[in-house]
Amino acid sequence: MDAIRIRGCRQLFGTIRVGGAKNAALPILCATLLSDGASRLRNVPGLRDIETTAALLRFLGRDISVDTPEVLVGQTTQAVRPEAPYELVRQMRASVLVLGPLLARYGRAKVSLPGGCAIGARPVDQHLKGLEALGASISVEHGYIVAQANRLKGAEVVFDMPTVGGTENLLMAAALAKGRTTLVNCAREPEIEELGRVLNKMGARVEGAGTAIIHIEGKDELDPFDHAIIADRIEAGTFMAAVGATGGNVLLEHAPLDDLEPVVAKFRQAGLTIEREGEHARIVRADRLKPVDVTTAPHPGFPTDMQAQFMALMTVASGRSVLSETIFENRFMHVPEMQRMGARIEIRNNVAIVEGVKQLSGASVMATDLRASASLVISGLVAEGETVVRRVYHLDRGYEHIETKLADVGADIARIRDESSIP
Ligand code: UD1
Repeated sequence: MDAIRIRGCRQLFGTIRVGGAKNAALPILCATLLSDGASRLRNVPGLRDIETTAALLRFLGRDISVDTPEVLVGQTTQAVRPEAPYELVRQMRASVLVLGPLLARYGRAKVSLPGGCAIGARPVDQHLKGLEALGASISVEHGYIVAQANRLKGAEVVFDMPTVGGTENLLMAAALAKGRTTLVNCAREPEIEELGRVLNKMGARVEGAGTAIIHIEGKDELDPFDHAIIADRIEAGTFMAAVGATGGNVLLEHAPLDDLEPVVAKFRQAGLTIEREGEHARIVRADRLKPVDVTTAPHPGFPTDMQAQFMALMTVASGRSVLSETIFENRFMHVPEMQRMGARIEIRNNVAIVEGVKQLSGASVMATDLRASASLVISGLVAEGETVVRRVYHLDRGYEHIETKLADVGADIARIRDESSIP
């Protein structure tokens, strides 16, 4: 198994290119199921989650060739098996995003319940409630969601809370439903706006994707599409945090600054200079970091997917900061690892109180989920001595060549073979 070895305390200078957005690419890959034709996705990041989604589409019976940054989904030439097995859903919760498209296109779907994951319980009740409102009959049998509908019918769906995946599943299902659907209290993430753009390219009529209320006029059939995926705001934010932690001057190519406003505002408060240069962003940090409080919230609030990386920054700020996590109940698993590196953090329920220290010290740490892994890499970059981050398969789910990108701007970082007995 691989690990990432970092020798810290080097500032970062140069250029990093931001890749395509994982969380936009995953639902868009699932949307290819809505059409029988051949679709082409460009600017797709080379990630394990993309490979898992490709494996799922293959299992369902679609031809798919992944040659990132391009992915081609071939014409349907054989019967599609509308079933997502536990083995694949277990690896990636976003697999549940095939439920809406399969049900809408084939009238039935059997998708494993995702179950819990490291960061919390993450139920899918809102997805199911919404699909039922569109006329599906749904049962849960032997750990599988079993859904059926002759033809989904447009309806009004009011979500109990803004859910990214729930909004996406319903958007895709409604695009092939008969008549008009209105989704209320939708998640407003940029990746949902992006999915709306793709569905419109396919011939659906989606209005309001990216706002709290979305109207969809369903169609009898949808066309294949060719689309280049937007840049990954969380990858961009992660590199901003890295430069913020180490200091330096880095140009982030294709950083989606508009999608990152709540994050950029907090980084600026902490003392980073972030300036737009055409479609790129320049990140500079010269002085010691200032402590800044953060509360995660649905978009356009501060994203939960940036909480751990922001905490890495705050562990070396000049004072006390308070970070509150409101989206997932168990998203502080990076804290004990950061503490082993000398960070001073106290947890009270869903609140972390961070007392900035002058210097972290390198240690052997273990990644527990995707964003936690990124935060430990950032901690390693700013720590004195050597840090080894283990279980990097979490990192590979969501960051393409993070060690190469950071090494190219001057970090002393390398992927090594983890010879320890720890799995
Ligand atoms: C997506 C993102 C993930 C991000 C999260 C929150 C993808 C592939 N993943 O995950 O990176 O951290 O948004 O921004 O885009 N909830 C329910 N019932 C439901 C659905 C959700 O109670 O049916 C709750 C969840 O437990 C959580 C909150 O709603 O507390 C938000 O979850 P949701 O927006 O659905 O997250 P995901 O789509 O799973």
